[in-house]
Amino acid sequence: MLEISHLALSLGEQTLLRDLSVQLHPGQVHVIIGPNGTGKTSLLRALFGELKPAAGEVRFHGQSAHDMHLTKWRQLFGYMPQNIQLELDLSVIEVVVLGRLDSLSMRLADEDILAAAKALEALGISHLADRPLYSLSGGQRQMVLFAQVLLRDPRIMMLDEPVSALDLHHQMQLMEHLCQQTLAQQWTTLVVLHDLNLAAQFADQLIVLSGGELQAFGPPAKVLDADLIERLYHVPVQVHHDHAGIPFLRTLRKVELS
Ligand SMILES: Nc1ncnc2c1ncn2[C@@H]1O[C@H](COP(=O)(O)OP(=O)(O)OP(=O)(O)O)[C@@H](O)[C@H]1O
Ligand SMILES: [Mg+2]
Repeated sequence: MLEISHLALSLGEQTLLRDLSVQLHPGQVHVIIGPNGTGKTSLLRALFGELKPAAGEVRFHGQSAHDMHLTKWRQLFGYMPQNIQLELDLSVIEVVVLGRLDSLSMRLADEDILAAAKALEALGISHLADRPLYSLSGGQRQMVLFAQVLLRDPRIMMLDEPVSALDLHHQMQLMEHLCQQTLAQQWTTLVVLHDLNLAAQFADQLIVLSGGELQAFGPPAKVLDADLIERLYHVPVQVHHDHAGIPFLRTLRKVELS
């Protein structure tokens, strides 16, 4: 279990996160939603040990980053940050293999290459394997970086807006694969999404942040309603439910077109 207790984050005078306490479980996908600038990325960075908490702590199976060495702590994670600027002169397959960096010796093992090829195949992007990374489109790069993070086979998987550049097909492919693997490998998964319908469809638990505070935590069917969404985003919405009770929402225009 990943246990976040009374976590507070600040940057100079600015408070990024206030008194956050949640418990996250292996085999579950936890989707973080909330308005821009509300502390989602900062939370992931704090979990990864990039931001030092102003108060509180994070424990994984009872151990904190403090107890372990930071390098060891980070080995628990697969982390795909929000804005990755990679202008590497490497091929796609080479970039994916870098996901195994921690365990790579001076030479690549055949099994590392094989695992990278399998990850590309599972995501339907084998045809990109030999292309230089710099030659790819934004969405293609995002899929490749997802393949890279899969190769780490982490205990805690963190993805910060991994579908922001993806078309509908690739959004579904990435999210389906993430959910399957989370269950199969018993990862504790955190993913930041802005698409609330996608979040409702794929989250086991939603973590709703706004103004650096936890607004709600729980399954989408319990948490996501029109009041909450209007309070967070100041946009009128209708929330409906499908036959399985999963909420889906439609935004309403303020001015009706005639
Ligand atoms: N390096 C930094 N220097 C100054 N302020 C920062 C820095 N990083 C983040 N902030 C501020 O901290 C707050 C939280 O930022 P954060 O990136 O965590 O938001 P977010 O919820 O991920 O937003 P988005 O949905 O736009 O990605 C924002 O007000 C942001 O301006
Ligand atoms: Mg962010």
